[in-house]
Amino acid sequence: MGHPVLDRVAAPVADPTAPEIRRLVADLAETLEDIGGQGLAAPQVHVSLRVVVLRVPGEAAGAEHLSCLINPEITPLGDDREDGWEACLSVPGLRGLVPRWRAVRYRALGLDGEAIEREAEGFHARVVQHECDHLDGVLYPQRMTDLKTLIFESEFRHVMEAAEREAEPEPA
Ligand code: NI
Repeated sequence: MGHPVLDRVAAPVADPTAPEIRRLVADLAETLEDIGGQGLAAPQVHVSLRVVVLRVPGEAAGAEHLSCLINPEITPLGDDREDGWEACLSVPGLRGLVPRWRAVRYRALGLDGEAIEREAEGFHARVVQHECDHLDGVLYPQRMTDLKTLIFESEFRHVMEAAEREAEPEPA
């Protein structure tokens, strides 16, 4: 956070099938594997191009695959927003509660130049919105409406424990 490349609007990719784009996507996929995250955008590895990789849920429970999106565009489906906890490689050690569209449609190109179009909701929709924000120079704290919910990772379990206590019925 604070590096100029994260602040910039990234350039569209002219040729998704170019070898340097394939190398970039391989690098993003490897980095995502290393950090164990849900998604990663090219500006986070200091390349100002409109490319992201993210994990996409499959049909079956637990089945997911890594998807690469080139020049992605997001359209909200409906007016519903919901709050959810986010973290980011570029904002290390922190978590924040971020409002996002609950459901979106996104369009992009794949590595072979093929058109990708998907509808996503919940966590999948959240990850797409988070990653595509990186392409416009937006980090999740800039989407937050209450900075009291920007907390250290080390405090996160206390928040979860408190939420669990609240969800439990009062002892009779
Ligand atoms: Ni991020």
